[in-house]
Amino acid sequence: MKYQTWLNYAYNKLLFKREALIFLKHVLKKKEADIFAYPEQEITSNQQMRLKKLLLLRNIGLPVAYLINEKEFWSLPLFVSMKTMIPRPETEHLVELSLKLINDRRNLKILDLGVGAGSISLALAKELPDSSIIGVDIDESVVSIATQNSINLSISNVKFFKSNWFSIFHRKNKFFDMIVSNPPYVHEDDPCLKVGDVRYEPRKALISKRDGLFDIELIVKQSKFFLKESGWLIIEHGCSQSEQVRKLFMYHSYATVKTIQDYSGKDRITFGRSKS
Ligand SMILES: C[S@@+](CC[C@H](N)C(=O)[O-])C[C@H]1O[C@@H](n2cnc3c(N)ncnc32)[C@H](O)[C@@H]1O
Repeated sequence: MKYQTWLNYAYNKLLFKREALIFLKHVLKKKEADIFAYPEQEITSNQQMRLKKLLLLRNIGLPVAYLINEKEFWSLPLFVSMKTMIPRPETEHLVELSLKLINDRRNLKILDLGVGAGSISLALAKELPDSSIIGVDIDESVVSIATQNSINLSISNVKFFKSNWFSIFHRKNKFFDMIVSNPPYVHEDDPCLKVGDVRYEPRKALISKRDGLFDIELIVKQSKFFLKESGWLIIEHGCSQSEQVRKLFMYHSYATVKTIQDYSGKDRITFGRSKS
């Protein structure tokens, strides 16, 4: 079968046509331009079998990112597997905001809590080459994936460790200029867990106790002990949680507390500054 013939076939099989090209690029290991430049090239029978399997798995709902083991975040191609959450475009706002809040970009110490594939840490490390980023996750296999991504991308000013939130750090050290996190924040009965890609993502990356606010509360409460004076805490949360999250920041004495919206205008990220 020729490239173009397979594409026409796959367009009719998939809900989103653009996914056909993603699968073809993945299996052929070719760029889009090469596929369109030579539409009459033949696909081998082995490649056809792999493409057939991808269409099948996609049609039963498996996320494209897991099928091709890749998701782009902040223009960085990240390896992802079913052990990691799939990085979301909304989270790029968190990176953007973090960079905006920084005055002097040199020699900063930044902590990313709950790294997944390493998306936030790697984006910040890339943008802030003179700073050090530490990323932690409770899941050892996720820490290995984030580390592998840093090696693949040759980003060396980031280190990943296994830790239950702050468990590997000493409280006496007010070490960080900034703490960022996209923690689990979904209520376990939220119907969104039963639709789309989310169905296949690791539960411990998504669900948090107490209406989804347990981990956020813990992070807000404990970050004060690890942030330098006037250091920033920046947290992503659910769009209906902003008021409660702001209250938590204020209850724990953060200053300059604000929430910003994501691309679709939904409340998504709350931030504040630690006092002494
Ligand atoms: C919503 S995912 C975010 C992943 C990544 N930062 C991103 O934005 O794509 C939350 C991450 O927090 C991690 N996590 C959950 N509980 C944790 C804990 N107690 N300590 C450290 N990490 C935890 C999960 O394993 C998961 O990788």
